[in-house]
Amino acid sequence: MRSSRVTDDLDDLEAAVAAVRRRVDARPEMALILGSGLGPLAEAAEDAVVIDTVAVPGYPRSTVQGHHGRLVFGHLEGRSVVFVQGRVHLYEGHDVRAVTFPVRLVHALGARRLLVTNAAGGIHPNLHPGTLMLITSHINLAFAHPPVDGPWVEGRGGRAGDPYDPAWLDQAERLALAAGLPVRRGVYLWTQGPSYETKAEIRAFARMGADAVGMSTVPEVLQAQALGMRVLGISTITNPAAGLGTEPLAHDDVLAVGRRTRSALERLVRDVVRTA
Ligand code: HPA
Repeated sequence: MRSSRVTDDLDDLEAAVAAVRRRVDARPEMALILGSGLGPLAEAAEDAVVIDTVAVPGYPRSTVQGHHGRLVFGHLEGRSVVFVQGRVHLYEGHDVRAVTFPVRLVHALGARRLLVTNAAGGIHPNLHPGTLMLITSHINLAFAHPPVDGPWVEGRGGRAGDPYDPAWLDQAERLALAAGLPVRRGVYLWTQGPSYETKAEIRAFARMGADAVGMSTVPEVLQAQALGMRVLGISTITNPAAGLGTEPLAHDDVLAVGRRTRSALERLVRDVVRTA
């Protein structure tokens, strides 16, 4: 049986859906996963119902400073959305199945689009701190993959091609340019972390074709793709990647630039949600 090794995960998912449904009967059209320093965007949600993820069976626990484990159901620009506030990462000791649990949950709750944001280090010289990068593709340098052969993909398994929806990306780019926001396209490279990269690694990643580097997003995106969801990924460039700037990297600086860029990101996210 192909599905037997994932049975416990499915049990978690059913219990998780039931726990959420006891609190809110929303059917979100879109899920938004928010990265470092960007979690407060969820405060923009109207009619918000906030569910602490510790109350959701099977939901992985977040431990990183600046990440709150909450699901915020509500409306943004008139659309029914769910914010996943406080994702978990491989570097916290979770496996990729746990990291992607929130995506399976929001899909089970009805979401068919995923908008995922993250903080990333800029590798391409045009990607200055404060730039928003629309993710065209990624490089999976953590070599990890979520489970895709369970019944939640109805036997279809992993999907070919890039998970990022080109039409949605084009639309987001038009909206960003119309709003005068600093936006670029680029390739996101996923490292497992938790260490920031060495200068030698960044030189290698640049030659591989990476424009930005970070420690999240790819597992969630792969899971969403396996579920047939439409995906848009936006990186906030928070720092020049290792060796490309003048200051050593520090998580506090990453959070600070994330906070400063929040209004541009919020504007873009609102426009994207309104027109989705
Ligand atoms: N490297 C990895 N992850 C990151 C970085 C970086 O430079 N900046 C923000 N997240």
